[in-house]
Amino acid sequence: MNRPNITATTASQFKKVVESRRSVRKFTDEAIPEDVVQQCLDWGLAAPNSSNLQMWNFYRVTSPAGKKAMAVNCMNQSAAKTAAELIVCTGSTRNWKKHTRMMLSYWPQERIPKLVKTYYEKLTFINYSTPPVDPFGVVGNAKKTLRDVVGLVQPIARWPNTEEDMKAWASKSVALACENIMLGFRAHGYDTCAMEGFDEARIRKQCKLKKGEFVVMVIAAGRCAENGLYHDQFRFERERFIHEI
Ligand SMILES: Cc1cc2nc3c(=O)[nH]c(=O)nc-3n(C[C@H](O)[C@H](O)[C@H](O)COP(=O)(O)O)c2cc1C
Repeated sequence: MNRPNITATTASQFKKVVESRRSVRKFTDEAIPEDVVQQCLDWGLAAPNSSNLQMWNFYRVTSPAGKKAMAVNCMNQSAAKTAAELIVCTGSTRNWKKHTRMMLSYWPQERIPKLVKTYYEKLTFINYSTPPVDPFGVVGNAKKTLRDVVGLVQPIARWPNTEEDMKAWASKSVALACENIMLGFRAHGYDTCAMEGFDEARIRKQCKLKKGEFVVMVIAAGRCAENGLYHDQFRFERERFIHEI
């Protein structure tokens, strides 16, 4: 488990990538080389994710007709219409059980650390078991109340308790993967635009999403056109957001 040597040069390259990333709304018609796309997707999969349960999927739209339909489903936004690549990034609230079993079988039985075994055999089930359908929130409220009662005497994870919580849970990890993908494209000199302006029902149908799967964002990627940036980047003052406690 040797780690590569990280130097000031690496940091200055990282600065270049992070600080030059912008949301681009118009792309040229240049294609992105296949190896670049695949590497960026791999970098997405390398993102940190909750319990390493990898509750994500990435649907790269490959056919011209599919891209056209996806652009329509992204409200005909110009970023979508002009993109060389469109990647639908989804989360799942339901694949964690299967992935828990996959996690356990990844380790040879004789070498699996006890903590890992207990975590994936017991704790994930306690933590992530939520009913996909819970009329009137009976089960979710019961689970939340139980956690709050235990929380009176010791620290305890207070959620997820509902399907909505599970969506938020999976979304965090998917969003991290999305950022890796977008920074990856930037590192290769390409640009992206994350999009949440889309018709989820139509994208569900187009990507044939499974039960419990939902769209977190669609990433448009390509080479920035001359008029692809609409304005300079700005943020509110950092004191508003960065706090020392
Ligand atoms: C989750 C998410 C959804 C977004 N949805 C859209 C979108 O639908 N259309 C769009 O043009 N930009 C979209 N953006 C881009 C933001 O508007 C943009 O990141 C923000 O204005 C800051 O600009 P910058 O990315 O150039 O720094 C989205 C960004 C994120 C992170």
